[in-house]
Amino acid sequence: MYALWQDVLRLVKVDFEATPKFGGKLLRPAMCLLSAGAAGLENPRRFVPLAAAYEALHVASLAHDDVIDRALLRRGGVSLNALWNDHAAVLAGDYLVARAIELMGEYDSCRLILDGLATIRQMAEGELHFFGRDQDLVTEADCLLLAESKTASLFAVACAASAKLEGLGVAEDLGRFGLNLGVAFQIVDDLLDVTQSADSLGKPSCGDVAEGKQTIPLLYLREALDAEGRAQLKALQNKELSESDCAWVIDGMIKTGARERTATRAREFGKSALLELGRLPDNAYRDSLEQLVEFVLVRIS
Ligand code: IPE
Ligand code: IPE
Ligand code: MG
Ligand code: MG
Ligand code: MG
Repeated sequence: MYALWQDVLRLVKVDFEATPKFGGKLLRPAMCLLSAGAAGLENPRRFVPLAAAYEALHVASLAHDDVIDRALLRRGGVSLNALWNDHAAVLAGDYLVARAIELMGEYDSCRLILDGLATIRQMAEGELHFFGRDQDLVTEADCLLLAESKTASLFAVACAASAKLEGLGVAEDLGRFGLNLGVAFQIVDDLLDVTQSADSLGKPSCGDVAEGKQTIPLLYLREALDAEGRAQLKALQNKELSESDCAWVIDGMIKTGARERTATRAREFGKSALLELGRLPDNAYRDSLEQLVEFVLVRIS
């Protein structure tokens, strides 16, 4: 598998060496290649350019996300917007989107490209849907929809793509696997944001609080706080959070049970993801997909 990663990195053509602590988990290419093997397809290596395309799309979304979220840290280093500026970071993201589509073009499949474009559209739709929304009116269903559109749609496409290219029925199962795993993943990401330090995350801690974002853990926290606590949480918006601000949030997550409630929700989606693998041939790739679910969830256990 390691040799495949090297090919993926080469194809994405990003100067990863320039980032000394490059810490990307490469989950989307892993899902693409492992799903090909789990579907019983011969020679998963032929899907390396496709796996690279999904990583490029993801890195593009990170470049744009850090501009939107005004985040200065990414993958344990400075974000592109912090290193250069917003203009350059947006252009770098655009460049990567184009690169991703070129890589998908190698498969001469209109459907494959349309599915890739649909996930880019969904990512933007998801974020746009929430712009300017009063966070007090955001519901759990809204948060799940956002997780599906901005994160899980790409997981689903990466998992289903190879089987779909070959016209296999299991593409649908793999797509639903990716969708459920993606929602679990975003819930975990949202939980880590309010329970871990910036050092261990490689990106800002409690950034979602400062940005005034409504995520599942923050929704549960707000629900559990009294009026005074809610006002205190709201006062952290648009503020540079101190260590004691973050400590107050992290402590509140534990004391109110919001942390455990969120973790349970993430595990439910993880379980649904695993159920989708039942029809796949029992092989080492399928085992690895199962382990991927554990890998996502272990971060909050
Ligand atoms: C971060 O994704 C963005 C979200 C979807 C939450 P990852 O946590 O997979 O980012 P990298 O690729 O490992 O940096
Ligand atoms: C995920 O949301 C955004 C993308 C899918 C790019 P976040 O805004 O929570 O991602 P992080 O936490 O900055 O990685
Ligand atoms: Mg964001
Ligand atoms: Mg962000
Ligand atoms: Mg996040």
